[in-house]
Amino acid sequence: MIQVAVLGYGTVGSGVVEVIEKNREMVNKKAGEDLNVKYILDLRDFPGDPYENKVVHDFAQILEDDEVKIICETMGGVGAAYTFTKQALSAGKSVCTSNKELVAAHGPELLALAKAHTCNYLFEASVGGGIPIIRPLNYSLTAEHIEEIMGILNGTTNYILSKMEKEGADFDSVLKEAQEKGYAERNPQADVEGFDACRKIAILSSLMTGKNVDYNRIYTEGITKITSEDFAYAAFMSMSIKLLAISRDTGGRTLAMVAPCMISREHPLYMVNGVFNAVFVKGNMLGDSMYYGRGAGKLPTASAVVSDVIDCARHQGKVIMCFWDSEEAQLQGIDDTERKFFFRVKKSGEEKVKALFAGAEYVRLPELEEECGVITGTMKEKDFEALYEQLGEEKIGTRIRMEA
Ligand code: HSE
Repeated sequence: MIQVAVLGYGTVGSGVVEVIEKNREMVNKKAGEDLNVKYILDLRDFPGDPYENKVVHDFAQILEDDEVKIICETMGGVGAAYTFTKQALSAGKSVCTSNKELVAAHGPELLALAKAHTCNYLFEASVGGGIPIIRPLNYSLTAEHIEEIMGILNGTTNYILSKMEKEGADFDSVLKEAQEKGYAERNPQADVEGFDACRKIAILSSLMTGKNVDYNRIYTEGITKITSEDFAYAAFMSMSIKLLAISRDTGGRTLAMVAPCMISREHPLYMVNGVFNAVFVKGNMLGDSMYYGRGAGKLPTASAVVSDVIDCARHQGKVIMCFWDSEEAQLQGIDDTERKFFFRVKKSGEEKVKALFAGAEYVRLPELEEECGVITGTMKEKDFEALYEQLGEEKIGTRIRMEA
């Protein structure tokens, strides 16, 4: 029997207990030994909960119990979760987590600590919720040189953008509705400003390069400036607007960025709608592959945590290799990267656009008579920004990068 502890009895933590309970027979069979949740750590009590007698309030009780071999950290944040994870790994207890903030901030340190104490730090649930993506990168695609990872890694923003696209609604009203329905957080900043996707692409970029990609150095732009008019232009051009998290090998360096981008109907990520997430991976031997599913939610995320628990159970006394060194990856700044850009301009600014952006294409929508859309030729980000700035008051809304 392997004793397990769950830290944090919130949405994911209670899901972990539920998955272990509901799929007990299968989970035990695949783990090779019976698993038992011995403790649930939380500040609160849960009177009437079927597992209320497992709830404890002091982490020391778990740490000092030699029977506990695997800990699920589903608390979130980088405070107590960081301290408890370090203490657990130092005591030789494996930790499985859904905590993307902690993995992105301290991944290499925690992996090294696990290795030094012959246990494991696994984080399948930290990116893409229930979608297997960490394990494929770590185990399955090991013969590949990964050239690019492009992901829709945040369910909240994908839900908002999909609804704007489908209903022609504006950002604020869709966000409000999403909050009322509980799809978006009361404080949605981490999602809508792209910070959540940034942590997740930092983790994937680190696994792609084998070095550390510091999330603070990733160019991050959210979706708050995207309008229903932008979607009208996108639809006219058979395109969609998605919040993309990108990591691309640019020849020894890595471009990592998060931004809303236009993608064409032909791209596999085009059809990823609503709360769904997907990760598109390009390898130099395999070519394209895509991993799709529920990127958030109680049971999908808990399922990924429990898959890590099973992996830990199968590898007791062994360290599962994970290539993520503390050495900083060489990042490519966004300024020198090249692509096309879409923007809107007032009718009065068209002559100026023609003078500044030679070879640009124009998109005119009958319902928007006082303006037009512009698609530039392929150009460097810094060159585009310099010219775009010169349009001054003639600009409408924001510019959107065109990715695929
Ligand atoms: N807020 C996140 C999302 C939860 O919307 O995708 C999963 O990490």
